Amino acid sequence: MRSEGRTKVFRKIVVAGLLVAGLCALAPRASAQGKAVDAEGHPWWQHAVFYEIYPRSFADSNNDGIGDLNGIASKLDYLKELGVDGVWITPCFPSPQVDFGYDVSDYEAIDPMYGTLKDFDHLVSESKKRNIRVILDFVVNHSSDKHKWFLDSKSSKTAEHRDWYIWRDGRGPGQPPNNWLSIFGLSAWKLDPKTNQYYYHYFYPEQPDLNWRNPAVEKAMLDSTRFWYKRGVAGFRLDAVDTLFEDPNLTDNPLLPGTDNFGQPNMQHKYNTKLPEVHDVMRKLRSAADEYGSVLIGETWTSNVSELKEYYGAKKDELQLPMDLMMTQFKGLSADQYRKHIAAVDAAGGWPTYVITNHDIVRSYARYADGTHNDDIAKMMAALYLTLRGTAIMYYGEEIGMENNDPKSKDEVQDPIGKLGWPLEKGRDGERTPMQWSDSTNAGFSKAKPWLPVPPSSKTHNVASEMKDTNSMLSFYRELLALRHKEPALLEGDYLAVNENDPNVLAYVRRYKGEAILVMLNMSGKEQQVRLDLSSAGFAMPKVGVLLTSFHKPLPPANGFVPMEPYSAFIAKITK
Ligand code: NOJ
Repeated sequence: MRSEGRTKVFRKIVVAGLLVAGLCALAPRASAQGKAVDAEGHPWWQHAVFYEIYPRSFADSNNDGIGDLNGIASKLDYLKELGVDGVWITPCFPSPQVDFGYDVSDYEAIDPMYGTLKDFDHLVSESKKRNIRVILDFVVNHSSDKHKWFLDSKSSKTAEHRDWYIWRDGRGPGQPPNNWLSIFGLSAWKLDPKTNQYYYHYFYPEQPDLNWRNPAVEKAMLDSTRFWYKRGVAGFRLDAVDTLFEDPNLTDNPLLPGTDNFGQPNMQHKYNTKLPEVHDVMRKLRSAADEYGSVLIGETWTSNVSELKEYYGAKKDELQLPMDLMMTQFKGLSADQYRKHIAAVDAAGGWPTYVITNHDIVRSYARYADGTHNDDIAKMMAALYLTLRGTAIMYYGEEIGMENNDPKSKDEVQDPIGKLGWPLEKGRDGERTPMQWSDSTNAGFSKAKPWLPVPPSSKTHNVASEMKDTNSMLSFYRELLALRHKEPALLEGDYLAVNENDPNVLAYVRRYKGEAILVMLNMSGKEQQVRLDLSSAGFAMPKVGVLLTSFHKPLPPANGFVPMEPYSAFIAKITK
């Protein structure tokens, strides 16, 4: 059950807790950061909102059922209007598409299914005209088994590229070198009959791990990043950086209780993830990025904030933006859990990068939905990750409330992990369905049958319909992004939690030069009356100007309390 079409965004000026007057003018649409560093020395990526595009699913210009680069280029005005400053395009390089692009067979070209290098250059120059930067996805840990390096590597034990991958003898006949399991199911070793040795693959067998201990690999990979920087790419999202190195002694991993979705014992990936050598590579990639003023965003699956902190580098010389993916693992909504986590990330000393979903994770809309307040919850979560101190990364379709559309049976599954692990593991198709542009056939994504089916909810949750509705999710996102670009306190302000004992409402201020933005998020399904006491933040008698709420009802005359509707957001400007 949905609640769309009823929300109203109210903007009123409240002075010292009293609702007094008038409407603030609609905030102007976001303006992207055109300069590399602003007047106060903040690099462009600190102010940017990145938008992740899964190219197979965004827009199909040639009507073959699969999205492409020209499709993305045709939607740049939409992205600009939305308030996006950078797009991160997941791998669009030549690939056999076993892992839908994360199995790269040539790091310096475009897969014909997405277009040509010329199309790519066109996309970059059109983006530039709109002050939108283009970030690519660099798959550092592994190539495709069809990459020419691997084809040579497997051809003989003495091949030039033999040592570009990890080859080892088995422990005995039919026995892999050790007990390591692939995260995508079964052994992480595959026997190649030609040379009777096993190669290592943390992901699919079609994704052999590169040997980063080999300087030739390092050089080739760094050169590939420069190839793209020279073409105008503004940085990379680095894939699976935790997995770059393995213990050379191949020590068996400790087993944990229970079994995984593929029926294998659970395992602590102690000897094949997060080895200290990863940081040396991060520094080298960073140094190449710095030659071009580019940004590195890391896919960092950290288990705690101190691990996250390490990815910035002891001298801030590794990743500018290691992703905080920990929030995606939270179960349920708890103001206290978010409060504690945000405080820890914020205090870690780097510039935070909050992510609530992506192409590997059940969509945030579906994860938080309670069946009754789905849209309200999605708006509240948007208000959270777009008002925190840090860089935000959106996932395409979040702004219209796209939900997961999981396969209904095994024969519908495209993602190999879903085929192997069905029904416990359904794969990631559900969060990768076509962008919903309209309520017409195939949600306006393509005239041909799309590679993945669109859900029935595309009839209500789509760009065209939501553009017309001032209360839609899309309108709320546009307002939020406009505010985020307009209000210095949202860009630069420090983060300070207020009302810290409130178990239901997460509240914080972002303070900057004598003013502040107050954000309150009711994470409960009940209305909460919140008393505004901002003296701890230095505002004993604040003037409060409401900027944006997701409330359904108008704010009542003020009585010192803000009536926070169930799962709602309230954002206001505070001055002394
Ligand atoms: C992480 C990517 O996000 C995921 O989609 C991919 O399957 C693995 N890395 C392997 O590249």
